Amino acid sequence: MKLNPSKDFLLVTGGCGYIGSHTTVVLQKAGFQVLILDNLKNSKPKVLSRIQEITGQRPEFVEGDIRDAKGLEALFQKYRVSACLHFAGLKAVGESVEQPLNYYENNVQGSLQLFKAMKEAGVKRLVFSSSATVYGQPKSLPLSESASRQAENPYGQTKLMIEHILEDLCRSDLDWSVMSLRYFNPVGAHPSGMIGEDPLGIPNNLMPYISQVAVGRRKKLQVFGNDYPTSDGTGIRDYIHVMDLAEGHLAALRAAFESTGFQALNLGTGKAASVLELVQAFEQASGVKIDYEIVQRRPGDIAECWADPRLAREKLNWSCQRGLIEMCADSWNWQQKNPQGYD
Ligand code: NAD
Ligand code: UD1
Repeated sequence: MKLNPSKDFLLVTGGCGYIGSHTTVVLQKAGFQVLILDNLKNSKPKVLSRIQEITGQRPEFVEGDIRDAKGLEALFQKYRVSACLHFAGLKAVGESVEQPLNYYENNVQGSLQLFKAMKEAGVKRLVFSSSATVYGQPKSLPLSESASRQAENPYGQTKLMIEHILEDLCRSDLDWSVMSLRYFNPVGAHPSGMIGEDPLGIPNNLMPYISQVAVGRRKKLQVFGNDYPTSDGTGIRDYIHVMDLAEGHLAALRAAFESTGFQALNLGTGKAASVLELVQAFEQASGVKIDYEIVQRRPGDIAECWADPRLAREKLNWSCQRGLIEMCADSWNWQQKNPQGYD
């Protein structure tokens, strides 16, 4: 099957969310027609007009749920879909510990319904949003795709279970082509500042917390521990610009049409940054001082985690182009232009 820009639709589940919206922009700019399926549980419909302002084209939108088998059947009957990029899912680790059944139902059951509907419709090209969380506590660094997988909370379990389902599916039917993209820490925003990350309530993740401190929505950052065995004692991660990540999806989509089978790929920069280094980079990019205090470690946190990005470079001919300062500058631009997010 050929990948035909402009003719068929690409189904983007969760396309109103943070990463899905940026990927939609990249796909549309590359000439593809995008059909978004989203239940708006963690996003706002306003993102659709923002995407239109950036690309000149409003994505087709169906408000619906990946758990709704009938809805999916109707969708595949109405639209000619050539491939799916599957972002829809719940993603808050702490919430997943409190509400495991919701997470398994939404993420795993929802993905099963989606894959069954795809199979029924003969759509066998998929790019899946996995996560570096499937590696759990790293045994050695950098993390390569062959590292052992060990999820440490219900959210991580859902990603791991979905990867196993997809591996079995690809073994059962050799026509399937699945790219499971294991994201490291996505941050930043589209350079226009029209779309970006808009967490509901108090942000769980570092970059949105820092930018909300910078814009005056939060008093000060709590740095979760400075007694890790790292250079400055704070946690180390591999932050990746969301536009690099979005471009990685376009490359993975193209690759899914050139090969079959299950392929897991790390999407990260391979560069490590500590919490305090990110704070410094943000201060440099924004010119705003970020107040912080050192507090207890966050339960469940790992000391350090970064990617070996070589396999993605080899398989996708893609690598990250944007550094820490650009990530911070674009997060700040989005936050300044939208101090209350999309509201
Ligand atoms: P997000 O919450 O901004 O986007 C997810 C979208 O999916 C939201 O618009 C939400 O309304 C929608 N959704 C959720 N459940 C749905 C359902 N049952 N039916 C239809 N729509 C549904 O999250 P994001 O940061 O854009 O993440 C996208 C994907 O990438 C998720 O699967 C997430 O687990 C994964 N991921 C994210 C990160 C990260 O740091 N943001 C890291 C690794 C992996
Ligand atoms: C978290 C999730 C992980 C998920 C990832 C994706 C947990 C335990 N892990 O990872 O499963 O895949 O998000 O976005 O929630 N930090 C602070 N203060 C804050 C927030 C964070 O010091 O207010 C520190 C953390 O301790 C960590 C670093 O900043 O060292 C990054 O944290 P975060 O952005 O939450 O990402 P992860 O912990 O990597």
